[in-house]
Amino acid sequence: MAMAKCYILIGIPGSGKSTWINNQNFDWSRTVVASTDDYVDSEARNQGKTYSEIFRDTMPAAVAHMTKTVVDAVRAGKDIVWDQTSTTVASRAKKFRMLPPNYSVVGVVFRTPDRAELARRLKSRPGKEIPDNVMRSMIGGWEEPTKAEGFNKIIVA
Ligand SMILES: Nc1ncnc2c1ncn2[C@@H]1O[C@H](COP(=O)(O)OP(=O)(O)O)[C@@H](O)[C@H]1O
Ligand SMILES: [Mg+2]
Repeated sequence: MAMAKCYILIGIPGSGKSTWINNQNFDWSRTVVASTDDYVDSEARNQGKTYSEIFRDTMPAAVAHMTKTVVDAVRAGKDIVWDQTSTTVASRAKKFRMLPPNYSVVGVVFRTPDRAELARRLKSRPGKEIPDNVMRSMIGGWEEPTKAEGFNKIIVA
């Protein structure tokens, strides 16, 4: 079997990760998206509530769902697009530990937009309010990905 691929997206909320996925021509018969946000979004729709309203209570199930998505994909040898922020070495290491050695791992870096552009983008998502301190800590805690972490390739989106 050809080597499977995993794209680990790296970027703060609003940096354009999910939009990028929608603009790629992935073969969806052999590619899965691993994301906690997709689960929270769909659960919010089902409950008639906003992302922010259910975020805290829904995250544990969202993480479990994402983990199962990855385990199932690995078992099936499918490509994985991992749509989380992954801005720290530790958060990426956790992902690498779930991937067997037959996966070629591409880091896709999304540069943080300037303050005004970021504010505009975050405002364009009603019901999904990410606290300022969370945004600040992600921006301040950013760790640039390196091949030493296990990436076969690192690209800037
Ligand atoms: N390259 C881009 N240029 C301008 N706006 C963008 C771009 N990428 C995403 N956006 C807008 O920014 C907002 C957040 O994008 P999204 O893909 O949801 O970010 P993320 O998934 O990283 O949180 C959306 O409103 C989207 O339309
Ligand atoms: Mg997203």
